[in-house]
Amino acid sequence: MENEASGQLCRKLGIEIPFIAAPMSGVSTPALAAAVSRSGGLGMLSADLLEPEEICREVEETRRLTDRPFAVNMRIPPRDRGSLEQAEKVAYALSDLRKELGLEESVDFSSFREPDFERQLEAVLDLGIKVVSCSFGGFREAFEERLHSSGAFILGSATTLREAKVQRAARADAIVLQGYEAGGPRLYFESDPEESSVCLSVLLAEAHRAVRLPLIAAGGIGTASAARAAIAGGAAAVMAGSALACAPESAAPDLMRRSMAAASDTATCVTDLLSGRPERVMRIGLVEALKRAGVASSGYPFQRFIMRDIMRAAVRSERPDLLRMPAGQAANIFSCRPAAETVGLIRQGLPHF
Ligand SMILES: Cc1cc2nc3c(=O)[nH]c(=O)nc-3n(C[C@H](O)[C@H](O)[C@H](O)COP(=O)(O)O)c2cc1C
Repeated sequence: MENEASGQLCRKLGIEIPFIAAPMSGVSTPALAAAVSRSGGLGMLSADLLEPEEICREVEETRRLTDRPFAVNMRIPPRDRGSLEQAEKVAYALSDLRKELGLEESVDFSSFREPDFERQLEAVLDLGIKVVSCSFGGFREAFEERLHSSGAFILGSATTLREAKVQRAARADAIVLQGYEAGGPRLYFESDPEESSVCLSVLLAEAHRAVRLPLIAAGGIGTASAARAAIAGGAAAVMAGSALACAPESAAPDLMRRSMAAASDTATCVTDLLSGRPERVMRIGLVEALKRAGVASSGYPFQRFIMRDIMRAAVRSERPDLLRMPAGQAANIFSCRPAAETVGLIRQGLPHF
């Protein structure tokens, strides 16, 4: 199978097949990134909440495992920081649950901190990363210029045509189109959450008509036929998250792997109650209970902070009803196969170079 846009993108990225692993904070690992890269695709690390030293360690470990290219994803810091006042209310609403799980009843907000974005970027530049992806927005001009002058290729993400155009204006080299079926956080940044609920086939058709940049299709990709359809629809490459999330090389907890195995087409929902950003996750009792109690999210990053030790306790006490499990709508694509096998299946629907 030949495809000009795919061929050009693969040559620029130094890969054999137009397949890219999705960034998955807390789930992506050097072993997973390296396994995807060794299979001919582009592996991905997630810088997200990592301190610069941790980014260095992950990059060095990945380089030890493969000499093929891989990418690092960065979270563009949010403009809206959420509400501390609401966070205190949510923490109060969760105090009985915290007690039941053996946690301190109240949340200590004074210990809240996040890695510094500029220091993360410095680390990525110093490490000479050749493909840098960004989620939740585009790089500001100064950062984009520094990345480009370091020779990096920038992958921007978008959930609507408008956002794809913003990424083009921010000088992204290729655009990841995230359809509504995708697992994990909704990556919108300009469009509101409601507007950004566009399914992949519609988003791809719109962007293919209007945006002359390589497009990467994300959302529900886990089979050769889904990959073939995306390429036929104008994508230069495909990206998969859910299909790799439970691979043995990932950092997903066993509890998540077991729950995913029982997933069906109606198993997921979009909620902002677990991290503060709308995200597609497995439908769980905790979210249903918070909704019934009328608890509203305090926004990102506070909500994620409040939930962090509840999630750790959920793993310790084997409570799938409390665990945040980011997962896409295409439930049939969850698999616990080694990443190379999953990539091997998907590549049957892709051109190779
Ligand atoms: C377990 C999991 C964690 C994710 N975490 C992130 C993340 O931290 N940052 C991000 O930009 N996207 C994240 N995503 C979304 C992916 O980037 C991608 O859009 C999505 O996986 C594509 O849809 P699919 O899951 O149907 O393959 C995550 C997805 C999953 C499944």
